Amino acid sequence: MAEIISALHREHANIVTLIRTLEWQVKEFEQARSPDYDIIEGVIDYFLGYPDLYHHPKENLIYAKLRERDPAAATKMGDLQAEHEQIAARTREFAAGVRAVLDEAQVPRESFKRWAHNFIDFQLKHLEMEERNFFPAAEKALTEADWAELDARMVSEEDPLFGEHVGTQFETLRETVLRWQREVRQQT
Ligand SMILES: [Fe+2]
Ligand SMILES: [Fe+2]
Repeated sequence: MAEIISALHREHANIVTLIRTLEWQVKEFEQARSPDYDIIEGVIDYFLGYPDLYHHPKENLIYAKLRERDPAAATKMGDLQAEHEQIAARTREFAAGVRAVLDEAQVPRESFKRWAHNFIDFQLKHLEMEERNFFPAAEKALTEADWAELDARMVSEEDPLFGEHVGTQFETLRETVLRWQREVRQQT
């Protein structure tokens, strides 16, 4: 497997972990309990940052190369770049909703649930499509030289939540995610 794809795959696993953490908090809200808004905001902050700045752009570069090498495969999976823009738009919509709740604006519960699920469902569907269609198609169509060229053009930065050095704003979220993973593991 191309090293770039392995790294993106690992990032997907991290994204799924975060989405599950978020679902857990949204469920609290749906069951009329009080969610931990610090967790929800932390997850949103992460998505507004690292994935949008470093994960999606790498995939966009691979997708552009796939368009050259196998246009039919690229067309079949839909417009990847447009999906990334959709993800960013839904993240911002959800972020604005959470802000409104925290500012004690009158936000209908149904709206909050809709924003949360719009975000979660789209993310999961997108990840699944990439794992199932995009990555295999890219692995099949791109050459060693393509991967080397892409690697040279990609901008990398350490992940501030899942990397070795956790950014100060994500310390609590990192602990929460680890705790949540431990609890889930104990239950299964
Ligand atoms: Fe993507
Ligand atoms: Fe992705």
